[in-house]
Amino acid sequence: MLENLLKDLNAEIESPYLEEAYNKAIKDVNPFYLTEEYLEKIFECKIIKENCEILRTALKGVNKVENLALFVKILYHIIDLGRGKGCAFTKLVLPTAPENSEYSIAYDCASAFAILGHMPKYKEQLNARGVEDRIVYDTISLMDINITMGSEKAGKPICDHETFISYGAYIYTETIWIERFRFQLTSSSKYPIYVFRNKVGDIKIMMRDVYVHESGYLCGSVGIPDTEPGAYAELTEGDDYYEGYFVDNKTNLVIPTPQRISKSEWELLLKPNEDVLKIHVPFGGNFTAEVFDKTLKKGEEVMKAFFPDKNIKGICATSWFFTPALKGLLKPTSNIMAFRNCFTLYPKVSQGYDVFEFVFENPIKSYDELDVDKLPEDNSLRRGVKELFKKGVYFPEFGAFRPFNNK
Ligand SMILES: CC(C)(COP(=O)(O)OP(=O)(O)OC[C@H]1O[C@@H](n2cnc3c(N)ncnc32)[C@H](O)[C@@H]1OP(=O)(O)O)[C@@H](O)C(=O)NCCC(=O)NCCS
Repeated sequence: MLENLLKDLNAEIESPYLEEAYNKAIKDVNPFYLTEEYLEKIFECKIIKENCEILRTALKGVNKVENLALFVKILYHIIDLGRGKGCAFTKLVLPTAPENSEYSIAYDCASAFAILGHMPKYKEQLNARGVEDRIVYDTISLMDINITMGSEKAGKPICDHETFISYGAYIYTETIWIERFRFQLTSSSKYPIYVFRNKVGDIKIMMRDVYVHESGYLCGSVGIPDTEPGAYAELTEGDDYYEGYFVDNKTNLVIPTPQRISKSEWELLLKPNEDVLKIHVPFGGNFTAEVFDKTLKKGEEVMKAFFPDKNIKGICATSWFFTPALKGLLKPTSNIMAFRNCFTLYPKVSQGYDVFEFVFENPIKSYDELDVDKLPEDNSLRRGVKELFKKGVYFPEFGAFRPFNNK
């Protein structure tokens, strides 16, 4: 039955909760989140402002196509069952409408209804944990922005896979949008580092479980020859010392020989399996030092209150912002440079493709796809990246860490 349903919709779902969700979904007759009354209530709360008409039309269509409605119910229950437990979907392909279907808007926007069904509960949960109303509103009203952004990209209104997954993430992994950034609780195991801090608050990063090239970059990164095996970075510990491959805070590259630090001077602040916040910087909006400094502090405060039972150690980020070549390229007054200064940086294994997506809006998956001469040159960053790239310089994404209670 389920197999036929997915086939009929050209959709795929893999989830640890699929079977249970399906069994619940087939018993769900006329669920509240597929009623016009509920949708109008959502509109009244101003969570959706721009796409009301589109969603009204889509809902009518969903309720006309039985399998589509069942699909929405399955998504709703998977989110419900997976709430707060990490990844609810291991694979998801959303339905596509048959050619010339009169319900194509319904197919394109169906997944939005599964998310909207969770809105009031999610809002309550945020409020109950003391998150202030404006942050709650910013977080949940992103659905509208995402549908609109989806429509620009796809040329039609759509709650696409990216929107569903990233937005669904707010609900099932408890991501919160605070002013300029998106914060998500995650595990330090995802980052290849140990972090040490001394009594005056200086930070040292030691690499973990990666191969270090003699250049200080990581083996496997763009531009690093794969002929030499590299040195395997791991922590060794004596009674009074830690030893391993540390990052030079001036160059942000790894010192390619093992170094020792004293336990009496340095505490091990972050190791694998601890709680950290992952931060994402979306497009748009003011990005001055004043704005992001306030947001970083606010993020720390809100997330500590939101997860009182967690000992969150700090904020982790990965971005093209942190790549070494920007240092000589951006002016010292640049906002991106000021943002970098809030963190301690380290290399990651990276192919350096993000800069083309986020600076030139020209996403690539291989350098063969890149026609560098066609890239725009209308500001200092674009000109600089283009010129350096032509000279053989790459822009691998680097990692960044900032401890909580930063001094
Ligand atoms: C975050 C962001 C707003 C910073 O922009 P900003 O405040 O202008 O940053 P800076 O002051 O450092 O800009 C320096 C120069 O680079 C240009 N620039 C900065 N970010 C740019 C971007 N993403 N695309 C194109 N040019 C950019 C600026 O226009 C400026 O040019 P100028 O010197 O000719 O005036 C901007 O980069 C952005 O919107 N990024 C998209 C999101 C992103 O990249 N997230 C990270 C994903 S991991």
